[in-house]
This record gives sequence, structure tokens and C-alpha cells, in this order.
Amino acid sequence: MAKKLEGQIAIITGGSSGIGTGVSKAMAMEGATVVVNHSSAKSADRAKEVLNNIEAAGGKGIIYQCDVSKEEEVVKMFADVIQKFGTIDILVNNSGIQQDAPLTEMTLDQWNKVIGVNLTGQFLCAREAVKEFLRRGVQNDRSLAAGKIICMSSVHEVIPWAGHANYTASKGGISMFMKTIAQEYAPKKIRINSIAPGAIKTEINKEAWNTPEAEQKLLKLIPYGRVGVVEDIGKAAVWLASDDSDYVTGATMFIDGGMTLYPGFADNG
Ligand code: BGC
Repeated sequence: MAKKLEGQIAIITGGSSGIGTGVSKAMAMEGATVVVNHSSAKSADRAKEVLNNIEAAGGKGIIYQCDVSKEEEVVKMFADVIQKFGTIDILVNNSGIQQDAPLTEMTLDQWNKVIGVNLTGQFLCAREAVKEFLRRGVQNDRSLAAGKIICMSSVHEVIPWAGHANYTASKGGISMFMKTIAQEYAPKKIRINSIAPGAIKTEINKEAWNTPEAEQKLLKLIPYGRVGVVEDIGKAAVWLASDDSDYVTGATMFIDGGMTLYPGFADNG
């Protein structure tokens, strides 16, 4: 069977860690050349490891350092990637951080950092990607669409989360940002969608699952009875980037084992 993303170029921001590793691997295994983005020199080794793993499995890619919250760095990353590969087909706006604090203790720096990476970063990358999609237009030997963007959101675009006001504000913002630009560019055959993961086993939420007690507590929020893994998100990202989802734009796919189904109501209310 033909690979679903054969010959396409995909930038995965934050591809060096967490959900980004699963998405990078899944897209590479479907034939995409992946740009595994990482934010700083500190994350270079992890990015290299992700790429080594992809290459060992027969996939292709490069690593690229760029802090998505910095305009000049984002503009340069897109220019460099387009110069190297000719164009880009897929952007996975995946970079995301948490800096948690109760509102009264949250510093402006914590607020700005989280909004900067999670929301402004998605804006900057989407802007550069859409410019390139418009320039190239549809080329049927690549894809039915001129380009595809996947915004990594969270169940916390709808579930309030005490102690995480900066994070939930960024994810709520992604919801309307994604829908607005999806509406704006659908006539140009650009598809823009979100994935809203629930609890996926990664570094960002390690405390919530790395002891049996913590995991039992977390599972009370997940009707399907298991914590997610990065592969759950990778498979969905491949589908949203492929022509199999050609009629899908402006949608948010919740991949959360039922976390958004108000599990507390199952035996109450
Ligand atoms: C957060 C995780 C959390 C999950 C479910 C994600 O967006 O980054 O820390 O475990 O939502 O609450």
C-alpha cells in the first residue's frame, strides 16, 4: 500500500520531546521527510535521538533548532527548510510548555512564557506555513490540499484547570485561532485542524502517572481505563495530515480516552 505522506515535507515543532516524538516518528513512517524542531542547544541531543530512531526504522528527516516564540527564528526556520527541500506540506504546531502556579502567585514571566510558546508560537509558525502553501498552491502529485496544519491543543481548551490559568488560556486561544484561520484559508485548499490530547504519558505530566498511586488517581478521570501514549496521537496526526481526511477542516479531534465526557457524572448528578 502506498504510504500516506510519501514525498511530503513536515515540520514538527517540539518534535524532540513528548507527543512531538510520536508524531515525528509516525509521519516519517508514512513517508514524510520530517523536520524535528527543538527549542535550544539543551534539547539537541534529544532531537538527534529522535532522528536516529527514525532513520534506524528507514525514515528520513533533519533536526532544526528554533524557539517558536521568537519571530526571527521562526522566519529563518521556514526559509531554511523551504530552501533545502523546495517547499513544505505539513506543519504540526506541537511545541507546548507548562509553568504552573495559582493565579495569585503566577508571575508575568510565567504567563508570558507559556502564552509565548503555546499560542504566539502557533501563530508565527502558521503564518509562515500558510504563506508557503499560498505560494505553491495545490500540486496533485503531493496532496489534494495546498497544505495542512495541525495545532496541538489539549482537553484543557474546554476543561478548566485550577493552578494552570496561563496554560488553559493558551489552549482556549488555540481553539479560536485554529477555527478562524481554517475559515480564512479553506477557499485556498489549506486544511487546519486541532488535536486535543488528554493525559498522554510524557515528561510534562510525569508526576500524574509515574507512581501506581498517582496513576490510579489519574485513571478516575479517564473512562477508557488507560493513560494515553504518544502513538495514540501520532496515528491521528497522520490521518489529519493525509488525504484520507481531505474534507476535514476547522475540527478538533479529542483523543483523551473519554476525559471530556464528564466522568464524575457516571455515578452522580
Ligand atoms: C497537560 C497534561 C495533562 C493533560 C490532561 C495536557 O494538556 O499538558 O499535563 O496531564 O492535559 O489533564
